[in-house]
Amino acid sequence: MSSTPRISLTRFLIEAQRDQGRINGDLRLLIEVVARACKRISIAVGKGALGGVLGSAGTENVQGETQKKLDVLSNEILLEANEWGGHLAALASEEMDDPHPIPHRYPKGEYLLVFDPLDGSSNIDVNISVGTIFSVLRCPDGVKEPDENAFLQPGTKQVAAGYAVYGSSTVLVLTLGEGVHTFTLDREQGSFILTGSNVTIPEDTSEFAINMSNMRHWEPPMRRYIEELLAGKTGPRGRDFNMRWVASMVADVHRILTRGGIFIYPRDLKDPSKPGKLRLMYEANPMAFIVEQAGGAATTGLERILDVVPEKLHQRVPVFLGSKNEVERVTAYHREARG
Ligand code: AHG
Ligand code: MN
Ligand code: MN
Repeated sequence: MSSTPRISLTRFLIEAQRDQGRINGDLRLLIEVVARACKRISIAVGKGALGGVLGSAGTENVQGETQKKLDVLSNEILLEANEWGGHLAALASEEMDDPHPIPHRYPKGEYLLVFDPLDGSSNIDVNISVGTIFSVLRCPDGVKEPDENAFLQPGTKQVAAGYAVYGSSTVLVLTLGEGVHTFTLDREQGSFILTGSNVTIPEDTSEFAINMSNMRHWEPPMRRYIEELLAGKTGPRGRDFNMRWVASMVADVHRILTRGGIFIYPRDLKDPSKPGKLRLMYEANPMAFIVEQAGGAATTGLERILDVVPEKLHQRVPVFLGSKNEVERVTAYHREARG
């Protein structure tokens, strides 16, 4: 009796390149390097107070948020890992105001990497799952010194996207545009092992994720949708719904990828200058790409997230993603309200 061979991320990528020609050597290297950086971040997260990584760094990022030590450390780990390999033309991150050019002493490649180095910062100090989110774009033809404009491409242009969730186990989720695959970190061996191929999100769900404390600031279609869910069995939906909110997008999206659900961070009227909280290029787009590749849907409430043409690197968007039928319903409510 022969046992099924364990497929490492390295083998998965080599086979994607060699057998199916789906990726080239540079993209393979890029994914390997990001995965290696995620392993380092996972180790730092796992050390917790013993590693001296908890607490605030005492600095602010471009969005005016106080940076945690782990936000800064994770950003440095991803930068250092990706600078020298020759696979990137530039990098951009939640934690850096402007894109980071590849230093002249290193060769440059054809890809742009955008990331949220540590997602769920408010959960670091309380030992709840956090993660890393990344998106890969091509550097536009003829651009030698990519600036912010080079990054301003709609999500449909992503060639790969993924996230790592540092939870009770560390899991890397990846799409190269042909389905979604999950890899669990074997901590003893130090390698990511394929544990889920062509993962799909059920079309229907009875579970929703939203920060309910903002309800009083929501727009009417948003209230209508959630009020209908809260009404349960005797309401218009005719069944009960359950709620979960981790406050780490990676963890909430990972639950949805595993058993379905809808995740919402809507626009609200608390601060009309901010169209939602989450950032398009390194939170909404990579997650929307993954969710669509798993058979789910992702919209801004009005349009497909992946079709949004970014105007700024750190732009925010409302996010509705997950089980298709729920995302379509809440999107229809928003469209109706627009008339
Ligand atoms: P980050 O830690 O990268 O700034 O992202 C936090 C995001 C996201 O992970 C999560 O879904 C959301 O913020 C939580 O927001 P609330 O604190 O408003 O619940
Ligand atoms: Mn984030
Ligand atoms: Mn972050």
